[in-house]
Amino acid sequence: MSFILAANWKMNKGPAQARAFFDQYKKNQSLSGIKTLFFVSSVNASVTGDALEGTDLYWGPQNIFPAAHGAFTGETSPQVMKDLGASYVLVGHSERRKLFFESDQQTNVKLHSASEFGLNPVLCVGETFEERKQGRTLEVLNRQLIIGLSNLEPKGELHIAYEPVWAIGTGEVASIDQVSEAHQFIRKFLSEKLPHHHDNIKILYGGSVKPENARELSQGKEVSGFLIGGASLDPEIFFSIARAIKG
Ligand code: PGA
Repeated sequence: MSFILAANWKMNKGPAQARAFFDQYKKNQSLSGIKTLFFVSSVNASVTGDALEGTDLYWGPQNIFPAAHGAFTGETSPQVMKDLGASYVLVGHSERRKLFFESDQQTNVKLHSASEFGLNPVLCVGETFEERKQGRTLEVLNRQLIIGLSNLEPKGELHIAYEPVWAIGTGEVASIDQVSEAHQFIRKFLSEKLPHHHDNIKILYGGSVKPENARELSQGKEVSGFLIGGASLDPEIFFSIARAIKG
């Protein structure tokens, strides 16, 4: 079973920079046992679809609106992304939840929509610093999972990214014990609620993953992938994380 290495470029790069990144990145030999995904902003969808066509690198948008077309100003159509070659989608990233007030109910609607349009979703969950301080981490994960995954019968792949909000873009990394505790909790939840699917669901860690800490974090219990922001923007640094995981 391969380890997922997912890049979240957020609102960075334009088409020329995206093309230059992929030209460089594709010079690397692909590493067996690692599946690489790129979550790009919708302005880079077309260029990414062209650059990755016929390769073993996959991509998708960072958000979708749950409809194929229509009067939804400023939104991204899952149908159009699919047509451009996307196969994955990020749902419920903490920046969407915090800055755009995305609720657990909306993540659920988007997961259903992803499934309808044939995009494999990666659902992001994670507690804020306040919630951790109050000892509410597992309660928050439980709520995000119960509502987010409600009535979902995954058709293709489904993955979960555990991203403690306080570790995103801060340089502060969760300890291996904190990561293992959250991942084991998520695994138990999945085995109870989605018993027929949970073997195929990977649990990714995200939050200040770097080449220097990747190897140790990859050995946390139930860690079967990473979602990487800052360290995914440079092709050399991102690839050195893949190498670090292989050891
Ligand atoms: P980071 O971001 O690697 O820059 O902490 C991770 C993410 O937001 O997915």
